[in-house]
Amino acid sequence: MDYINSNKEAWEEAFEHRAPGWCGDIVKRLQEEPYPFLKTELIEEFKKVDFTNKTVGQFCCNNGRELLSLMKFGAEKGIGFDIAENMVAWANGIARETNMKCSFIATNILEIDESYHNSFDFILITIGAITWFEDLRALFRKVFLCMKENGVLIINDMHPVTNMLAFMGEDNFDEKVPNKMINSYFKQDPWVENHGMGYMCQEAYDSKTFYSFSHTFSSVFNSVILNGLTLIRLREFQHDISNSLAHLENQGIPLSYILVARK
Ligand SMILES: C[S@@+](CC[C@H](N)C(=O)[O-])C[C@H]1O[C@@H](n2cnc3c(N)ncnc32)[C@H](O)[C@@H]1O
Repeated sequence: MDYINSNKEAWEEAFEHRAPGWCGDIVKRLQEEPYPFLKTELIEEFKKVDFTNKTVGQFCCNNGRELLSLMKFGAEKGIGFDIAENMVAWANGIARETNMKCSFIATNILEIDESYHNSFDFILITIGAITWFEDLRALFRKVFLCMKENGVLIINDMHPVTNMLAFMGEDNFDEKVPNKMINSYFKQDPWVENHGMGYMCQEAYDSKTFYSFSHTFSSVFNSVILNGLTLIRLREFQHDISNSLAHLENQGIPLSYILVARK
């Protein structure tokens, strides 16, 4: 199964189906808000970093909104990578319009060109990115190769425990028991979905196929450290960053996390 190519086509189709208002105000928000499109805990982490003269990168950057916002912390240069060609073209247009020193490259992360190796002081990976990779060791190998010595990686994602839950709107969601654990934490086979990409498109449609993968916390952690990165900080939160699990916030269930590691 060529899951990477299928995901490329499905994500490009999702961008074509994006809701009319989705990020339509990006230029205005970048100009008027200090750090739009960034979660509160990420802003806290970024405030601990001196971005002066630094090159920052984002893997699976989607339409670039988070990286463009991160640039407002004062980095010298930003480069975002995403497999969806139409998103990357759109993001480059926004970077030009806002005059930000940011560019976007269309590529499968696992095939990022060697010319980007040893290039980044800082790499960002946000919610919903690592799930597209079956082999996390290969993903974090690429992170390691692209980072300079002492470079910092920050991941902000949904907690792996959330893979066990049914999401509102899914067939097996039980509103009487919304915290019911219905999937194995150790699920090996991919999630196979054809209902579009809700957070961008709002309305479901018969989409091309998305293939994604569950990863346990230990597989994320081990793939990072076995690739030569040193763990600096791990934070777990009881609040939702997915806009899908707000009804489970502050009930003792880990919903999101931040991992900080250094090369
Ligand atoms: C959920 S977004 C993550 C970024 C951001 N947090 C967001 O919510 O928009 C996932 C992105 O991963 C990209 N993607 C999926 N597989 C990829 C791959 N193999 N290489 C590069 N990008 C990939 C998709 O095109 C999509 O833009």
